[in-house]
Amino acid sequence: MSKTNLIVFGTRPEAIKMAPLVQRFLKNENFITKVCVTAQHREMLDQVLDFFEITPNFDLDLMRPNQNLYSLTATIIENMKPVLEEVKPDYVYVHGDTTTSMAVGIAAFYSGAKICHVEAGLRTFNRQYPFPEEFNRQLTGKIADYHFAPTTLSEKNLLAENTKRENILVTGNTVIDALLYGIEKVNSEKFKDLEIENVKEILDFRKKIILVTGHRRENHGEGLINICSALKNISQQNSDVEIIYPVHLNPNVKGPVNELLSGISNIHLISPLAYPAFIWLMEKSYLIITDSGGIQEEAPSLGKPVLVTRTTTERPEAVDEGTVILVGTDTEKIIEETHKLLNNPEYYDSMSMLHNPYGDGKATERIVNFIEAL
Ligand code: UD1
Ligand code: UDP
Repeated sequence: MSKTNLIVFGTRPEAIKMAPLVQRFLKNENFITKVCVTAQHREMLDQVLDFFEITPNFDLDLMRPNQNLYSLTATIIENMKPVLEEVKPDYVYVHGDTTTSMAVGIAAFYSGAKICHVEAGLRTFNRQYPFPEEFNRQLTGKIADYHFAPTTLSEKNLLAENTKRENILVTGNTVIDALLYGIEKVNSEKFKDLEIENVKEILDFRKKIILVTGHRRENHGEGLINICSALKNISQQNSDVEIIYPVHLNPNVKGPVNELLSGISNIHLISPLAYPAFIWLMEKSYLIITDSGGIQEEAPSLGKPVLVTRTTTERPEAVDEGTVILVGTDTEKIIEETHKLLNNPEYYDSMSMLHNPYGDGKATERIVNFIEAL
């Protein structure tokens, strides 16, 4: 008898990283696979569903403007009950460290399903950084039955927490499966994309392109103000540079960024880009300044140096290999490191080598094979 999967996600990065798993399971006749989105994000989630051609079986449509952690967590758990009762899944798949992952993990545990944690074992071991993600992933790790760890370091973290070795599989990160699919589709002859055409209109590609993103809760307020000061300074000192910043829709990000950086001729504030335009732009960029987890994983595969506006990371692999530097939200440090990369070609070359510490594009295949063998 075929087993039933329920794959659940809610935000942009979870959608990107779960899309390859959805695609592969839907083609596998040994499983009945259903997809549920909490829609913790709305527009930014829908952009991903469109690109990967995924139509969810359940859409909880939970996003509210400027939502808070208390009500989001509670409504996710409550709204998952009827879905779990209808689908009666053998396996529920959650991803990473968002409120969706943690709350769906709790609901799935109540339902009696086996819980499969994709992107398991990332840790900073500091529950305040990133907040609330470190707590979310530790809790999800406790609830999960099977742990798909992207790297051997994440496996080590799980083993140190007494997770049974036989329940862990090192798979690589599914973000690389998504990236390889995405790059191939974007570079195919017949792919036409209005957003890419718009970006071509805005930017002068004879100049060095600096791509910026940011959204971490612990950077809201002072941290974000410091980052914006650095960007303003870099734009004023370097007329041969174009800064492009697709601004996250969180009002705590969008408000201050627009207030501090609007009206500067070589800083382009734009709406979040859909995934194809974003990966296309990453490839065209000279360097990336970000606090994003996913971008830290994608950039080494594209050979792009990254300045991470955080003081800790749960993804130390690329820091160790020298393509990612933690600059925190220190205005002077961001300016200094950017100038080193702009002005010192040898330094730039040492940071822009291509490597894949986060995977080989086969993570999804490994996960499906593991579940099939149970
Ligand atoms: C969430 C995750 C974070 C993840 C990030 C990826 C939690 C607690 N946080 O943070 O781990 O790294 O997503 O981007 O799970 N909004 C929109 N439209 C959208 C998306 C967001 O308008 O498509 C606005 C809404 O006002 C929403 C707010 O952003 O209430 C915050 O969204 P939320 O998911 O709670 O937090 P993020 O900062 O996006
Ligand atoms: N991304 C995107 N459009 C954008 C910015 C980012 O499609 O305008 C993609 C990016 O390629 C990566 C993911 O979104 O795969 C990262 O999401 P985010 O930074 O929101 O979350 P995090 O990874 O930090 O949880």
